Amino acid sequence: MKAKYIDFTKTQDENMLKELGQAIRDGKLVVLPTETVYGIGTNGLNEEGVKKIYEAKGRSSDNPLILHISDKNMLDELTFPRTNVENKLIDTYFPGPLTLILNRKPIVPNTVTAGLETVAIRMPSNPIAQKIIEYANVPIAAPSANISGKPSGTVISDIIEELGDKVDYIVDGGPSNIGLESTVVRVVNEVPVILRPGKVTKEELLDCIGNVTLDSHLLENCDTAEEVLSPGMKYHHYSPNTKCVLVYSKDNDKLVNKTKELLKENPNSLVISSSENISYYSTQFVLDVGSRFHLEEISKNIFTTLRKVDSYPVDLVIIEGVSQEGIGLAIMNRLIRACDYNYFDLDNEKDNK
Ligand code: TXA
Ligand code: MG
Repeated sequence: MKAKYIDFTKTQDENMLKELGQAIRDGKLVVLPTETVYGIGTNGLNEEGVKKIYEAKGRSSDNPLILHISDKNMLDELTFPRTNVENKLIDTYFPGPLTLILNRKPIVPNTVTAGLETVAIRMPSNPIAQKIIEYANVPIAAPSANISGKPSGTVISDIIEELGDKVDYIVDGGPSNIGLESTVVRVVNEVPVILRPGKVTKEELLDCIGNVTLDSHLLENCDTAEEVLSPGMKYHHYSPNTKCVLVYSKDNDKLVNKTKELLKENPNSLVISSSENISYYSTQFVLDVGSRFHLEEISKNIFTTLRKVDSYPVDLVIIEGVSQEGIGLAIMNRLIRACDYNYFDLDNEKDNK
């Protein structure tokens, strides 16, 4: 592997943090932990460094990056004055798993924003990420640590395998706490619009601001949509090579029965099941993704689980869906894409299959 591996799972060495900050300033590529997922970071004000990120990921150049900051003062350098609603979101959720789309100043390179007049800003709460940004003393441009189209990297072994030869440093901070990428929000006419659901939920935003809307493409295919507020949502994402199908009903018996029926029709299948339902499925291939009563567990495990499925000798992956409440909306947003919109929504007359 080309990358220098830094183990920060137990302690963090201050000199090494300085070296990493300098490497970022110099436009090198550093995989770093955040509380959501790992990122591939570089100097967000350095066009050459930013171009290397797109190359390493094989990412389309019309899909903009998030700038990560460690100090709210950095906001004024990068963005124009904000509305009261935007300021309230910043006061409430920075640092944390929320990304805000704001009007950018000319200092932000075009390569970061893919030519848009707005820029995505987030202040991670992970202390290693914060320190590296502080020492770099520049905003860090960082997309999720994965090759484009693959699930975001949340454990170091997956990342080393995928990116070990494409970056300069890999910083191990242990498995990501949340496991799904940040909630992306843009405020339109004083209403927060969720462009990508995440750990900061629609219910919390409603509580905080008194109003919230969901981008209409969160749970549907927007490949052909003309105007997509968040370019990232239109790309194929999170999909294993094996065909996947998603099943959900809020009635657990219905969900289990449909999964069994599909398993009967397709005996050579793998089931991704909640811990509680595992014993219902008589197949040798079942993966436990966590408790359906603790969606945080599923959020943390879902990407590593999706990454495993192609190593099984099966023709189909049947995935149990979850309730869309709280972080469930973010889980379903990712699963629907992983399944390429093959979805049996048993509570609605028309299924999307
Ligand atoms: O949790 C996260 O957000 C992780 C960690 C590393 O911070 N990062 C991440 O970055 O998920 P990425 O590049 O994989 O996803 C960024 C998303 C994309 O869907 C992109 O289209 C959207 O944010 N985005 C970035 N800039 C935007 C802008 N100016 N307007 C609308 N959407 C934007
Ligand atoms: Mg990504």
